[in-house]
Amino acid sequence: PGGTPEIRKGLAGVVVDTTAISKVDPASNSLLYRGYPVQELAARCGLEEVAHLLWHGELPTPGELDDLRERERSHRALSPAVRAVVDAIPTTAHPMDVVRTAVSVMGAHDPAAEDPSREATLDASLRMLAQIPAVVAYDQRRRRGQDLVEPREDLDLAANLLWTTFGEEPAEVVQDAFRTSLVLYAEHSFNASTFTARVVTSTLADVYSAVVAAIGALKGPLHGGANEAVMRLFDEIGDASRADAWLERALAEKRTIMGFGHRVYKNGDSRVPTMKAALDRLVDHYGRHDLLALYDALEQAMAARKPIRPNLDYPSGPAYHLMGFDTATFTPLFVVARVTGWTAHVMEQRAANALIRPLSHYDGPGERHLA
Ligand code: SDX
Repeated sequence: PGGTPEIRKGLAGVVVDTTAISKVDPASNSLLYRGYPVQELAARCGLEEVAHLLWHGELPTPGELDDLRERERSHRALSPAVRAVVDAIPTTAHPMDVVRTAVSVMGAHDPAAEDPSREATLDASLRMLAQIPAVVAYDQRRRRGQDLVEPREDLDLAANLLWTTFGEEPAEVVQDAFRTSLVLYAEHSFNASTFTARVVTSTLADVYSAVVAAIGALKGPLHGGANEAVMRLFDEIGDASRADAWLERALAEKRTIMGFGHRVYKNGDSRVPTMKAALDRLVDHYGRHDLLALYDALEQAMAARKPIRPNLDYPSGPAYHLMGFDTATFTPLFVVARVTGWTAHVMEQRAANALIRPLSHYDGPGERHLA
């Protein structure tokens, strides 16, 4: 009595709720979306099918997939209201600030934003799935002084995002690698941004507010911002021959090595082998074996010193770089995918809601009074 209660900093190891959306099992190093291994989904499905799976619990029938594709394509064109706000944001702002603001604007313009029904939430989720890629593509272009590229209805979400960003149809190998990255990024149980979305939802706030907050949580380099940070490390190191000495010094300076480590996986991230294989194919396609040499050299240098393994951001950062994305656009690409998981969690939270409001142990000054 009167002592300090047990505190789990960062809620490490604390189970806060049940979920039927995904299972992260560090013991078997596996990740299941609604029971399906993520590797199988990444090999066979696009983000559209995975969105349906996460939202509804089952993969779409051919008819359901056609319907989802048609509705997604109908919302693809960048809305004038969103474009006007994006244009008002200086290009010195981080692209995550642009996406965060754009989603807020989408909510403000959706007349059904305050409707908590599952139908309205599914509709809002689909709009975000279609509109966020438009924002991300347009934002990278405007930073490069390029004009907007109109979406193409004959392309799936991944291929259309590449088309609207670069204005050319990418090679099949590039499309496949991009599709794979989106499926791998779609969902990961109670990570920091998803938990944020659930906290916001628990107050009965609208789905757009939950996604805006989740984008804020994802931006930080300990979470989604790591894919950008990995690329900045690669730029800093420059060449495979320097990786070992660079790491020696960075660890001596107690630096955090971006793209390594994970709160849940201690023996390696289940998604890395799939994304690394996609990166290998991109490296062959673009003839950038120098980048792969640096990737391997840093991973080996780390393994020789600490039992800390790469996470998904380690291969996806360089993969996005090879595809031609600006480094600052990498985390917005994570948003494009993760909005599916966030919105699935919003619906799950609502279906069995309890306000999320933990306790704290006060250790400030004792009671005192104004003089
Ligand atoms: C994502 O949660 C999810 O599921 C997230 C995610 C998803 O899909 O949603 O998987 C996406 O966010 C991936 C993670 C991206 N972040 C990074 O790559 C940033 C670098 N990683 C680390 O900062 C760290 O590993 C975390 C934040 C990912 C996890 O940190 P924890 O669980 O809080 O562990 P910790 O920081 O307390 O580290 C434990 C020990 C420490 O050493 P000691 O004090 O015990 O001696 O391991 C060391 C840390 O210093 N350590 C690292 C390190 N990661 C852990 N040391 C150097 N570099 C690292 N990357």
